[in-house]
Amino acid sequence: MSKLCEGRVVIVTGAGRGIGREYALMLAAHGAKVVVNDLGGALDGVGADATPAQQVVNGIRAAGGEAVVDGNDVSDWNGAKALIGKAVESFGRLDVLVNNAGILRDRMITNMEEAEWDAVMKVHLKGTFAPTRHAAAYWREESKRLGAPLDARVINTSSVSGIYGNIGQANYGSAKAGIATFTIIASRELRRYGVTVNAIAPVANTRLTENLREYTEEEKRRRDPRWIAPVVTWLASAESSGVSGRVIESGNGIMAVAEGWHRGPTVDQMEDPAAIGPVLIDLIERARKNAGINGADLD
Ligand SMILES: NC(=O)c1ccc[n+]([C@@H]2O[C@H](COP(=O)([O-])OP(=O)(O)OC[C@H]3O[C@@H](n4cnc5c(N)ncnc54)[C@H](O)[C@@H]3O)[C@@H](O)[C@H]2O)c1
Repeated sequence: MSKLCEGRVVIVTGAGRGIGREYALMLAAHGAKVVVNDLGGALDGVGADATPAQQVVNGIRAAGGEAVVDGNDVSDWNGAKALIGKAVESFGRLDVLVNNAGILRDRMITNMEEAEWDAVMKVHLKGTFAPTRHAAAYWREESKRLGAPLDARVINTSSVSGIYGNIGQANYGSAKAGIATFTIIASRELRRYGVTVNAIAPVANTRLTENLREYTEEEKRRRDPRWIAPVVTWLASAESSGVSGRVIESGNGIMAVAEGWHRGPTVDQMEDPAAIGPVLIDLIERARKNAGINGADLD
């Protein structure tokens, strides 16, 4: 097997379970030294337990790989800083940050509580921004010190819930759409330091999703979280240096590039609100419709 990530130092957040665990195992199998971060909380983010992350580290070491555990909360400013520091202290450098940690607090808007909105925003949006911010500052200094661009990566986690819009997930979907846009902006800002920034929109059966409905055996096979790890392993490697600012759907039988917002039919700006109706309706009729939740059907 050719090893795609030999010697690269990778942080995977939320790697104690589910999709992140598969990333950590495959990255280590491809020669990466992995910081396995996980707060180990419950599905809704409450509590902490270092055991799942430690088990992943034990598994990597038993297979001959290198890994350390980290129990910081990625959405805590100083915790995120300490996480980036952990990679540098443990392995001397940082090449790849995979922002994967996440929670769910699903509710229809009519019933959603402030705390449910805030918790999801904090873990997903701030939990992506804060580690990226501290990693970016580290990479800026490294590229100055070396006098050359690096070959570093940020790999974020969006969702079809965010980019296409899923009922019952206004908090989660808004955060995931924010992460998709954050990915584009960060890719533009960090290009000068040799850092690419992409996002995955995964689909897999994990504790986040396995109880949403009954799945057939074929669906369970297609929705095994191990299917997402190959694309993340490739993105983490030096081979992906030409790819940045993209959201890539992965899992449930497909790999696809999600295409972002584009300006559709356009007219000159108008002053009279009474004249806008027919003009705007004509623009909307000529515009491409929004995608449905499967990315293809049109609303
Ligand atoms: N499973 C899916 O179909 C699916 C679909 C779209 C997006 N996602 C996203 O993929 C990512 C992984 O989800 P999963 O399905 O593997 O879920 P999971 O619950 O199995 O794993 C998420 C992990 O993140 C950890 N975590 C939560 N908050 C944290 C924090 N503040 N700091 C550090 N760790 C924290 C949890 O302890 C957990 O181990 C999430 O961002 C999720 O939103 C999953």
